[in-house]
Amino acid sequence: MRVVVSIGGSVLAPDLAADRVEQHAAAIDELVADGHEVAVVVGGGDVARQYIGTARDLGATEYDLDALGIDVTRLNARLLVTALESSATPEPAETHEAARASLRRGEVAVMGGTVPGHTTDAVSAMLAEMVQADLLVYATSVPGVFSADPNVDDDAERFDTLSASELVDVISSIETTAGSNAPVDLLATKIIERSGLRAVVLDGTDPERIVAAVEGAFDGTEVVPDD
Ligand code: UTP
Repeated sequence: MRVVVSIGGSVLAPDLAADRVEQHAAAIDELVADGHEVAVVVGGGDVARQYIGTARDLGATEYDLDALGIDVTRLNARLLVTALESSATPEPAETHEAARASLRRGEVAVMGGTVPGHTTDAVSAMLAEMVQADLLVYATSVPGVFSADPNVDDDAERFDTLSASELVDVISSIETTAGSNAPVDLLATKIIERSGLRAVVLDGTDPERIVAAVEGAFDGTEVVPDD
């Protein structure tokens, strides 16, 4: 199976602990050993938010704040590459084209962000679309897609399965709520919808759940193409 795994920065490196990065690398290595082609997109998490907060106070433009976020995602990508034992391209890919070339060489592709204006959620969806991935896994810090933000709304319910168009609707309604924190951004959902991608959103703090999802044991929200 060809799989794109999107690992949130707050999942991979909330505190830059080496053993957590190693555990994620081990899960990717396991997928490769099982015969899967794997590309990984890594987010920036709280470290990116801290840099962005400081630079915003210093008067940086939104474009430059995004550029700072991209730099942090690439640092996290570099950490993951360092920990991987399977043959990963040593330099994180800076473009989707470079990531696709890595996959074609039979290497694990690891990348962070690309250009300002979106997040690594969208980067992952674009990569999955480009390489025609069989599955796109979002390893987030929440156990799936909820009807509202579970951290602030006790009535929030998790969806076990959503069609891609339902996912777009759910995420749009969450994103229009002030201060909300959607597990996947809206652009990503639109790409998932237009490409008919299969995706799963899960709690990736235990990376074995990523392996389980690829093996078909979804503990999260499964997104299926519209008919
Ligand atoms: P993330 O993808 O980590 O954003 O990129 P996020 O969703 O806020 O954080 P997670 O999911 O908790 O990890 C960090 C920031 O980098 C910029 C954006 O500003 C984003 O918020 N970025 C990232 C881009 O501008 N372009 C990209 O392709 C990726």
